[in-house]
Amino acid sequence: MALYSEKVMDHFRNPRNVGVIEDANAIGEVGNAKCGDIMKMYLKIENDIVTDVKFETFGCGSAIASSSMATELIKGQPLSEVRKLTNRAVSEALDGLPDYKMHCSVLAEEAIQAALEDYEKRTGVTV
Ligand code: FES
Repeated sequence: MALYSEKVMDHFRNPRNVGVIEDANAIGEVGNAKCGDIMKMYLKIENDIVTDVKFETFGCGSAIASSSMATELIKGQPLSEVRKLTNRAVSEALDGLPDYKMHCSVLAEEAIQAALEDYEKRTGVTV
């Protein structure tokens, strides 16, 4: 079996939603101290729905694929669903990651949760 699924390779080669949202109202940035990878998520939230999301990831292929898939999973979703997103859901949507690459999907979960915390701080709303 190939080390990486076709979905991982697809999202690594053609990442969705790369970039910056200038008027984002929720931004989350996280890093992994061990590998040095950094992920930043920009969310545009309107009426409790993620209407747009973009990311910048300085990291490995699995981190890029995880960020890309995570943005696809949360786009158009209500915040209550976004709050429940786990790294496992991201990795399953990618048809799996090798065990030693699971931490890359954790970065995507953490970046999105950090963005939600930022949104809570900015608005006083509890997600
Ligand atoms: Fe660090 Fe993938 S090796 S996020």
